[in-house]
Amino acid sequence: MGIRDLSIRAKVLVTILGALVVTLGVATTLSLRYWEREQFELTSGHALMLAATVTRPVEAALAHGQVRAARNQLEQLVGRPPVDGYRIVARDGTVLMSSMRSEEGKRRVGNPLPDPWDIPPEGQMVGRRGASELAVVVPLSGVVGVGGRANLELVLGAGRIEGAIRRGRTFGLTLTLVLTLGYAVMLGAMMEREIIGPFRRLEDLAASQQRQLTERAGFAEVGALASEVAHEIKRPLAGIRGAIELIEQEYAISDPERRLLGQVENELTHVDETLRDLLSLAKPVGLQRREVSVPETIDAALVRLSGLPGADGVKVERDYNGTAPRISADGSRLEQAFLNLCVNAVEAMPGGGRLTVTTRARGEEVEIAFADAGVGIPRENLDKILKPFFSTKAHGTGLGLPLVARVVAAHGGRVWVESEVGKGTTFHVALPVRGDGWQASAS
Ligand SMILES: Nc1ncnc2c1ncn2[C@@H]1O[C@H](COP(=O)(O)OP(=O)(O)OP(=O)(O)O)[C@@H](O)[C@H]1O
Ligand SMILES: [Mg+2]
Repeated sequence: MGIRDLSIRAKVLVTILGALVVTLGVATTLSLRYWEREQFELTSGHALMLAATVTRPVEAALAHGQVRAARNQLEQLVGRPPVDGYRIVARDGTVLMSSMRSEEGKRRVGNPLPDPWDIPPEGQMVGRRGASELAVVVPLSGVVGVGGRANLELVLGAGRIEGAIRRGRTFGLTLTLVLTLGYAVMLGAMMEREIIGPFRRLEDLAASQQRQLTERAGFAEVGALASEVAHEIKRPLAGIRGAIELIEQEYAISDPERRLLGQVENELTHVDETLRDLLSLAKPVGLQRREVSVPETIDAALVRLSGLPGADGVKVERDYNGTAPRISADGSRLEQAFLNLCVNAVEAMPGGGRLTVTTRARGEEVEIAFADAGVGIPRENLDKILKPFFSTKAHGTGLGLPLVARVVAAHGGRVWVESEVGKGTTFHVALPVRGDGWQASAS
């Protein structure tokens, strides 16, 4: 049961996380891409604008042969983001003027610029996003002696743009990650509180109600009749027993006859015990509560078990780790209930096997598990085993488990079972540590 619940929660969380990562991931990627393009366009737009402001003055200065004035104009741009430098390049690629003086008079290195006659008057971007060289070029007209036109190239700090984009990307992705985790934790907590928790409580409730209902239905049918019938049978039974004793004492009978009568007496005892069990089922369970040690109570039951036939072949393993040692309970009733469970376990392993008894403290409860590696209980029998007289055994009365259920319920506890045919059965008993269960209503 625990594992099934856990996997539900795991599934839900994985689904939520997956959906979140995918949705937010896609949204972030798209918006980052958009943002990067925007950023790039903004930068190049800015550079083109800067270029436009100097084009006319530079053209005018050059037209009058005022090279220094032209240079002064251009120098003002250098270092104003995103401009890193400038060049005036002739159609044949010769650098006429540059922010790096050493380039002047030489051929421009790198990818050739477009022909100034092909460039729109407002200029254009050269190099693509992510390229190491980025620049805007604007055609300069009226440049003497070099075919009338040259390129004004503003070199852009590609690294700076990429750096800004990278920082933006890192920031965006980190934000997404944090948001995803935050959402997942929040949704997980919400799911746990709103859906999984109630679901599990519902399941627990359904399980325990089903058991209790089964139990009560059994008693409604049987309980009322039981005490009457039991009393009716008890009287003639006492008569028979008296008669047998009389025969044994007053008549001269042979040894074989005496053995036969002994057998009859044994059977009578068995009927008597069955009736007593039946009556105890019909009666309210009156508990005599004391402080009881759960491990000691189990041990007492195990000692009684070891004396029973068939118990030799069963190895008992005890794991009482971390159990709250004492609960408020009726020790002898509990001991009987535990014994019934152990006897069933032994009977389920006719060829011998292992019986593991585990106790655990769980909040306000102590949980005890009796796990055998026996024949198991078929699914269709699971709802019947708590009914009085349901037995699959040749000599079973079918009162063992109903008594267990009754005693545990009287303590305000729960019984449930996990079983797999051919693998084994585990009976779980949960008992409240403090004894304020529904003892009063256990009728
Ligand atoms: N550990 C178990 N492994 C397999 N089947 C079990 C186990 N415990 C109970 N059962 C099944 O549940 C039935 C009812 O058990 P219950 O203890 O009430 O009666 P019983 O053992 O048949 O007879 P009684 O206990 O009165 O001698 C059993 O007959 C058996 O089929
Ligand atoms: Mg039994």
